[in-house]
Amino acid sequence: MPVQVGVGLAFVLMAGSLAAVFLTVAFDAQTTAAEVVTARGYRMRRAWFLFLLAFAVVAFFISMFWLPYQAPREAAYGTPTTTVDVTARQFDFQLSATDLPVGQTVAFRVTSADVNHGFAIYDQDGRIVGQVQAMPGVTNVLVMKFDRPGRYFIHCTELCGPFHYGMAGTFTVGGGTASGGGCGGLALGCGTAACGAGCGSA
Ligand code: CUA
Repeated sequence: MPVQVGVGLAFVLMAGSLAAVFLTVAFDAQTTAAEVVTARGYRMRRAWFLFLLAFAVVAFFISMFWLPYQAPREAAYGTPTTTVDVTARQFDFQLSATDLPVGQTVAFRVTSADVNHGFAIYDQDGRIVGQVQAMPGVTNVLVMKFDRPGRYFIHCTELCGPFHYGMAGTFTVGGGTASGGGCGGLALGCGTAACGAGCGSA
């Protein structure tokens, strides 16, 4: 089940439960004394609060292991065998390597030379597969593993200036032999340093 469907179902379940509480109280209020309804309402509210609290605590601890932080990623993927230094600046990404190995753990060490940028990696289908903030004076590490060879695209996901929309780049995985549409695919940043030879005339 896609995670979006799960989130949607959970939302419907919780919103439905809340609506049921309101409806129960509303219909009861017409036939029962106010104090009785109030007392019951408070009991239901307390139970609901405790349920939500327990749910939130459990969900928090479970979802911690899905967060793309460095330590859990390295625990899941293994110690990185390739490190790519990424410097973002208005309006371009510089990568120390633009051809990455298939099926191996890669650590992107991402920083910015000027303002805050977003470093988001998209696969050939335009799906975002990883994202980290590029911040001046800070190096954030994004640990990734690419099982699918081909061209990947980078887009800035932080509004960083007038040409934010065109701040993009690309890299290949597994020698770039698979067709990925070149920079004409998703990337608008033809001519950027990271774009390389896939750009044709740019
Ligand atoms: Cu860099 Cu938007």
